[in-house]
Parts: sequence; C-alpha cells; structure tokens
Amino acid sequence: SGEAAVAHAWWREPAERSRLLDIAAEATPRYVYHLPTVRQQARELKSLAAVDRLHYAVKANTHPAILRALAAEGFAFECVSPGELESVSAGVPADVPLLFTPNFASRADFERGLATRATITLDALHPVEYWGELFRGREIVLRVDLGRGLGHHEKVRTGGSGSKFGLPVEQLDVFLRHADAHGVVVRGLHAHLGSGVLDAKHWGEVYSQLASLAERIGSIAFLNIGGGLGVPSHPGEAKLDITALDKVLREVKAAYPHYQLWMEPGRYLVADAGVLLARVTQTKGKGSWRYLGVDTGMNSLIRPALYDAWHEIVNLSRLDEPSDALFQVVGPICESGDVLGSDRRLPEPRESDVILIAQTGAYGKVMSSPYNLRGETEEVVLDN
Ligand code: LLP
Repeated sequence: SGEAAVAHAWWREPAERSRLLDIAAEATPRYVYHLPTVRQQARELKSLAAVDRLHYAVKANTHPAILRALAAEGFAFECVSPGELESVSAGVPADVPLLFTPNFASRADFERGLATRATITLDALHPVEYWGELFRGREIVLRVDLGRGLGHHEKVRTGGSGSKFGLPVEQLDVFLRHADAHGVVVRGLHAHLGSGVLDAKHWGEVYSQLASLAERIGSIAFLNIGGGLGVPSHPGEAKLDITALDKVLREVKAAYPHYQLWMEPGRYLVADAGVLLARVTQTKGKGSWRYLGVDTGMNSLIRPALYDAWHEIVNLSRLDEPSDALFQVVGPICESGDVLGSDRRLPEPRESDVILIAQTGAYGKVMSSPYNLRGETEEVVLDN
C-alpha cells in the first residue's frame, strides 16, 4: 500500500488530516499545498555549502503563494516561457534574479524575454546564427548536451541523442564564433540531463564536465548544473542523500573555485507539499478487478497516464481502517488510461469518502487540462 513511502507525509498528522477533510467538505477535487513543507525542502537545499545560487524551476508549480514563499527563502527563479517570466516578474520582488531557459523558442519569445531582467539561456546555433543582433552586447548562458540523459522515465530525459535539448558539444566552436561576431559573451554554462534523479553523484559529474568545458572557453563565470533532484515515490525507494550531494559538490568546487555554482530544482521543493483531494463516486466489480471511482482523473493529474508515475493513494476518511481490498483507482474521464493508481490496497470505501493522492505538488495542477470539460481543479494553500 506504500505505507511511509512519502518522505514528508505532513497530511498524516491528525490536525492536518482534519483540516484536509474540512477543505474537501467544501468542494472536490482540490489541490492543497502545505507551505511549511515547501520551506523545509528549501532550507535543506540551502544547506548545500558549494551552491552559490538556487533557482526554483517554476514549471513544477506556479502558484503565487509558492513563488512568494521561495522568494522569501532567498531563491531565484528559472522560467521556460514568456508567460512564466511575466507571471514570476509580477509576483516576486524586483531584485530577485531570473533565468529564461526556453527550448525551440521563437524570435518573438526571445524578444519578450529580453524585455525582462532575466538572464537568457541559448541551447542551439539558430538564435546566434540568425538573430545574433538581438543578443548583441549581452551576457548569455549556453546550455550544452553532455551526450546522455537520465530520469524517472524515458519521457523526462533531456540529454543524449534522442533529446531535443542542448547544444551538442561538437558545435561549441561554431557557436562561439557566431557569438563573438555579434559581441555576445558566454558567461555561463548549463546542463540539465533529466528529472527525478536520486543519485547524488550525478551532479558532481555534470559539474566537473561543465567546469572542464569552461576552462576551454575562458569567459565563463558560473556553471548551472540544472535541477532534476528526485523525491522517492515508490515504496522502498531511498531518499536523495543531501549530505552526499553536498560532499560531491564541495569536492568539485575545491578544484574549480573560480566558478560560481548554480542549481535549478523544481520537484524537490514542491512535490511532497501538495496533495490532490477527490471524492469517491462509485465502485464497480468487473472481471477480476474492483474499480474505485473518484471525481477527478487524468484531467487533474496526468503523471500516472503519461509516465506510469506512482502516487501514494489513501482513503483519508478511513485512514485508521485496515486496507484489505485491492482496487484500480480511476477517474471519470473517457479514456482507458484514466487510472490514478493500479492494484492499490485500501479500506472498503463508501460513496463520498475523501481520497488523497499524495506527492502531487509538482507537475500536478500545471499539467492539468480541460479535457472532457470537467472544470478547473481548485488550489488551496495551507500555512501555519
Ligand atoms: N531545469 C530544466 C532546464 C528543466 O528542463 C527542468 C525540468 C528543471 C530544471 C526542473 O526539473 P526538476 O527539478 O523538477 O526535476 N513533467 C515531468 C517532469 C518534467 C521536467 C521538465 N524539466 C514529471 O512530472 O515528472
């Protein structure tokens, strides 16, 4: 059943659980975000002594209260679209640094990005080859492809030959020639290989590879080793070891103290902070399966359908009852893939019970859709 699989199951605390049941009594489906958990995760990452600047990858969750909480913790922000840039610019103090890291952006997107205070990341020849005058006199960041990708699912790997991201290192000299011709200075190097990585060694490898490339280039002041910091989701998966990460980063920094070190985590900060509350609609026996239906599905949370992602599911109304029945937990969407959890051991449910889907603070609401015109899933923020 995934007992204790989630690192910060704040919602198991009796007081939080009863707050959640009250919130669900008003309306479901609803996402609920617990800001103390966001702050706790933020402080853990702030303990990384080698890291000079942490950017929150806002694509994971763009709720304004989360942006404000992380700005208050001293985070900078990483945005991938003009829309993200504009909403972050409006929501955080004007002195907070921003990064714009788009992929296959249009010329118009770059024009909008350049109109903000963000530092721009390029990851292809095309912008410097054809739109060089846009970036004239600018300091930019170059995202490279280190030739490999990794992550919790094939679809979240962002490096290697099967991925559309990053400048292949073989094109570095050509890129630098175009940049030079337009007076564009490459001040930073960036790599992000994928999402949901639990092995601390990974970032040490990226860091030292970027540092040795930087030695070749000469104009580099900082290295952005990306995000991708995973949280354990399956029962039995080990947590990312932050102390080990601190150690590997400090080792590389000792060899290359002349570069600033930047990171840009998304999921790690917000995944555990969010839960999705839904209500039991119907149950059904069919063949060897029992189905437990709830009032939202892949329209609110697409990760199980898209990545086979595993989210812990509990019956919040019956947390103390024995879980002795097996269910397919499904939503109301007209797709066979609308399964939130397969083979889940849960207590015998009743209509209107509140079902909690855990670890949905990252890539939940932001990836939701109006499919089947089920309506928007509301968001509620909890703070102390
Ligand atoms: N930096 C860059 C350049 C990225 O592309 C991403 C994520 C991040 C940072 C933040 O990665 P994180 O720390 O959150 O792993 N929708 C997928 C994840 C896609 C991630 C896309 N890029 C999921 O639900 O697992």
